[in-house]
Amino acid sequence: MEQQGIQHQGIQWFPGHMAKTRRKISESLKLIDIVVEIIDARIPLSSRNPEIDSLISGKPRIILLNKADTADEEQNRRWIGHYKEQGIFALAVDCKTGKGLNAFLPLCKKALAEKIAAWEAKGMKGRRIKILVVGIPNVGKSSFINRMVRNSKAKVADKPGVTRGNQWFTLERDAELLDTPGVLWPKFEDQIVGERLAFTGAVKDSILDSETIALKLLAMLIAEYPALLESRYKLEGVSALSSVQLLETIARKRGMLISGGEADFERASVMVLDEFRGGKLGRITLEVLRD
Ligand code: G4P
Repeated sequence: MEQQGIQHQGIQWFPGHMAKTRRKISESLKLIDIVVEIIDARIPLSSRNPEIDSLISGKPRIILLNKADTADEEQNRRWIGHYKEQGIFALAVDCKTGKGLNAFLPLCKKALAEKIAAWEAKGMKGRRIKILVVGIPNVGKSSFINRMVRNSKAKVADKPGVTRGNQWFTLERDAELLDTPGVLWPKFEDQIVGERLAFTGAVKDSILDSETIALKLLAMLIAEYPALLESRYKLEGVSALSSVQLLETIARKRGMLISGGEADFERASVMVLDEFRGGKLGRITLEVLRD
């Protein structure tokens, strides 16, 4: 990992690149009051940066479980509870439609309540909260910024000198959002993380082929969500099948055959992955919190 760059969603991460990102984030931290860490609700562990705590060095933070529309609702609730136990406010949102985002600014204010009270005590009433968005590629950072800007009909305020070219979007009266998100790297060195990012499509130039990814995904779904598979593909007894048997059954059911009448595993794999990523299998969380 230290020797070579790692390709991730079109970004070539070299150790030097990571150092630069670290530096940029620490510069941005001086300008802001709160960090919004966006993660993918379907893979709340794998979609986080392994060094996030030290990167944001004690700044107040909110976690947005984005793409919550595609994740298991019960799991969304549990993950929010889990972060709350760690003293971090979290919110389940869907930045594609904007669902859940109304609660975002009130939650920022809650997380910064002491700081806001201190500002007011110093006569800085109405001081704007300054927000920085961070997250690994493809979690929805741009979608979030676009949504917030559209919702608030935000104005772009350029403050050269003060922010060295950074632009701020004014959200409502009392909050400002830095227009450039901090793009973080995932935990590359962990193979499981790589697989899970491949399931969601976050890693597009995956070293794994579609069939390998689909079989690994199906193995997880057989264990955790057999009923959703049964309902989507009109099957029974999915729990008794291996992932290869299931993929073959799905291919046959959908008429995906190659010459000689054999199941077309490649086509079926691409379809299963597309359906999972598009939410067609139902609401699924791949990293679950149990009782
Ligand atoms: P990034 O800046 O963090 O890299 O992520 P970006 O906003 O570009 O979002 C990555 C993909 O995730 C986009 O899909 C986006 O539409 C989708 N997305 C973002 N937020 C949500 C959400 O809350 N729910 C769902 N279901 N999807 C979300 P895409 O396929 O790259 O583009 P498109 O399908 O929107 O054209």
